[in-house]
Amino acid sequence: MAIAKRVGRNPRSVAQEIVDQEPLSSLSAELEIGGPGFINIRLNDAFIGGAVSELRPLEQVDQPERIVIDYSSPNVAKELHVGHLRSTVIGDALARLFEFVGHTVIRQNHVGDWGTAFGKLIAYIDKEQSAEDLTVQGIEKLYVAANEQFEKDPIFAQIARQEVIKLQQQDSETLDKWNQIVQASLDHVQQIYSMLDISLQLSDVRGESSYNQDLATIVDDLDKAGILEVSDGAKCVFAEGFLRKDGSPLPMIVQKSDGGYLYHTTDLAALKHRSKSLHANRILYLTDARQIHHFQLLFAVGKLVGYISNDVIPEHLVFGSVLDKNSEPFRTRGGNNVLLRELIHEGIDRALEIVRIKSSHLSQDEQEEIARLVAVGAIKYADLSKNRTNDYRFDWDGMLSLDGNTAPYLQYAHARICSIFARADLDLQAHLSHEISLQHVSERALALRLLRFAETLEQSLEERKPHYLCNYLYELTVHFMRFYENCPVLKAENARIRESRLSLSAKTAQILRVGLENLGISLPVRM
Ligand code: ARG
Repeated sequence: MAIAKRVGRNPRSVAQEIVDQEPLSSLSAELEIGGPGFINIRLNDAFIGGAVSELRPLEQVDQPERIVIDYSSPNVAKELHVGHLRSTVIGDALARLFEFVGHTVIRQNHVGDWGTAFGKLIAYIDKEQSAEDLTVQGIEKLYVAANEQFEKDPIFAQIARQEVIKLQQQDSETLDKWNQIVQASLDHVQQIYSMLDISLQLSDVRGESSYNQDLATIVDDLDKAGILEVSDGAKCVFAEGFLRKDGSPLPMIVQKSDGGYLYHTTDLAALKHRSKSLHANRILYLTDARQIHHFQLLFAVGKLVGYISNDVIPEHLVFGSVLDKNSEPFRTRGGNNVLLRELIHEGIDRALEIVRIKSSHLSQDEQEEIARLVAVGAIKYADLSKNRTNDYRFDWDGMLSLDGNTAPYLQYAHARICSIFARADLDLQAHLSHEISLQHVSERALALRLLRFAETLEQSLEERKPHYLCNYLYELTVHFMRFYENCPVLKAENARIRESRLSLSAKTAQILRVGLENLGISLPVRM
């Protein structure tokens, strides 16, 4: 109809001319003109079957970008807790997906490893014990005690402040102790990443401390750009349009009157590094919504000072909170943060109960490994399958259910397909390129689903929302199950149909595997 309008002709006659074209009619069993000039195309089974046979899950982008993803980025000297879950899980899924389609991804773990807290900690460690054999749990306890001491003991407070100054002046003894604290914390962080199959490595850590040497230059850059102002002794930048609640201009303070730098200053240094040294085209940040204003101001000032040129796109990706069953913030009974270490262990225990019943034929070791993959998959999938910007409820029973839009349901379907091949002693890989001919409506429905993988992946990346891909994989699985109920595979009526159905099953397993693995979810071959 749009074409007809443009060429100024009757829509139905234009439609007829299009329908008469040879290449189009070979695609479809039925082409019909409806209403005032719509063309309805019903693709024929041979065309769909051929397209599925040729389906390759990997289509590389035409213009690969360099994408920095700043995710997880916890503050050290504390155990990881549920508040770190979403940034870590969503960031990791996006990193893998962008890499999969051919972009260059540079992971940046912007850990909070600097600040006055370290002065207190070091002073307290000096007083109470040595910095050796520190664990993150120990450090967290010491920090609570150090804070108490700081409040009640002025002499201790004085020492703690001196330690901060010594740290800033790179005093080697103080730096050593700081280093021990950071290393012990990062050991813990990496351990949790490996339990959760998170792809962040120690080499991706580029903490706040690593920008210390650059901060004076940042203030200089702002000065040279003519945007630095001094207000109440503090150096700051006023960006247009940023106002306080009372309507007065909101400053970005980059250096306090005592000479100290701030979170913003470090982030400006990181922005400069990512854009000028890492040559990123795109810089993604994953934090919760509390930091929206921080990043808005950061990007505005980044543009003013010239760190963000026209070919660099910074983007703050926010996400909602994790809630409990009653829609309250997810906490322990005592009101504390739920630790990721404990969360993962609880998940494995719960998954093991299910695996023991469902997979009693497998060895103890195998059951335990499956339970880990199921638990981690369930935790990640429950998060990824919800629209990123919404809150979601953390519910063990729901996320571990073998029915419904859950990781175990998808993992189980995949294992089931693998077992069809194992039972018949056939190679799944070898069936990926076999010819597919569609007989049954549920085969056709499954085939049409398979063909939509690429566009769903694209949509997930375009909006940086993995839930589109999750929902697609779920629907694909529902279609597979329907097909499997209706169409005998190994006992198909003849060899040609059997081969075709094996091939459809192999394709489904392949898309499930590629989709889930690039979300960071592993698949057991047996369950
Ligand atoms: N460490 C910060 C926090 O725990 C998150 C850092 C996010 N990244 C950044 N470049 N500011 O809130």
